[in-house]
Amino acid sequence: MKVDWPYEFPGAYWLDEQEDRAVLDVLHNGSLFRYYGLGTPKYVDAYEAAAREFYGTKYALGMNSGTGALITAMAALGVGPGCEVILPAFMWVASVGAVVQVNAIPILCEVDDTLSMNPEDLDKKITPRTKLILPIHMAGNPCDMDAIMAVAEKHNIPVLEDCAQCNGGSFRGRSVGSFGQMGIFSLQLNKNMTSGEGGLLVTNDEKLYYKAFSAHDMGLIRVDGRLATPEPYALAWGSGRRMAELCGAVASVQIKKLPQIVDHMRASKRRIKAMLEGTSGVEFRRLNDADGDTGTFLILVLEDESKALSAVEKMKEFGLHNVFRIAEYGLHIYYNIPSLVGKVPLSPAGNPWQLAEGVHDYHKGACPKSDALFARSVLVPIPSRLTKDQEKAAAEAIKAAVS
Ligand SMILES: Cc1ncc(COP(=O)(O)O)c(C=O)c1O
Repeated sequence: MKVDWPYEFPGAYWLDEQEDRAVLDVLHNGSLFRYYGLGTPKYVDAYEAAAREFYGTKYALGMNSGTGALITAMAALGVGPGCEVILPAFMWVASVGAVVQVNAIPILCEVDDTLSMNPEDLDKKITPRTKLILPIHMAGNPCDMDAIMAVAEKHNIPVLEDCAQCNGGSFRGRSVGSFGQMGIFSLQLNKNMTSGEGGLLVTNDEKLYYKAFSAHDMGLIRVDGRLATPEPYALAWGSGRRMAELCGAVASVQIKKLPQIVDHMRASKRRIKAMLEGTSGVEFRRLNDADGDTGTFLILVLEDESKALSAVEKMKEFGLHNVFRIAEYGLHIYYNIPSLVGKVPLSPAGNPWQLAEGVHDYHKGACPKSDALFARSVLVPIPSRLTKDQEKAAAEAIKAAVS
């Protein structure tokens, strides 16, 4: 049995002459900077306008990366030295890295059977130093935003949604990124829509928007593309994280294709799941909202670790080359991130962990319930342009691998 299985670069498979035209337009006009140029730049503006409509937020700010958007959002939210930020044990290194970059202390929260932030554990992890809750909509599955917002509101703590892995996803009919005080997206190549590099920050709060704006640019705001002094609250130190007009050109086209890309992955995932239904010894990750899941990954939960290990080995033999046991899914798991486990300081001064008291342990075992689930869960990426034959072959390979 040999499956012909594509790589998971969802947006990249949908690039066509529309993106070509937009990119060439930028080059021919000599307008490579979003605020001014030989011609009149328009693409980052167009992307932001489309984003406001798509995510249903008042403000959207194009950025140079998802990581940059996370750091900028935390700066706008006033998260800084010694503050605690709660995030789930299943993440991406950039999410926890952004916390450390603002000199704040990451606090791990267990995941539940959806592999996203467990709202009960979140409640337990809150201390007087908690300044931010950072839910991450991991692997296409939206978090339970009702439960997370209820905890946040009870303790009056802001929420920043990391939507990098769930672009086009929704919870109970509302787009991810629109629940918390702020949300961020990434447009890196592995994401549901892409411009190679790029990011987006969304919010409904005018003050947070202007703070983020000045922090992402040069510490000031802009009027008609030119720097201007904002009201004092929005003065900041800039960080040069503006979105490039060439990335805006691609992003402004890709955002229009996002619903179609996500529909395609969702449909493939549903068909593969249906073919696997009833296979003994396999369950699926619970989804907080199956209609809002972006379909990017199918996660199988096996009976125990040894069954998961052998299933992954066989799936790879059958050609499903990019499947992972979640425990070994690299920098997505807290204990696989060497700088986190070793509490590598941001500077020789030793920050951020020396800035506040408390036991901060990131070795395996810090989140035992999550660890147990990671050990027996297997992630299968669902490429964005599968044929029905590829879906069928994958389902057969998975069945054979788990039996
Ligand atoms: C959950 C999560 N957050 C943040 C990021 C960072 O995005 P970027 O690579 O655009 O900096 C990623 C990207 O891989 C991610 O998966």
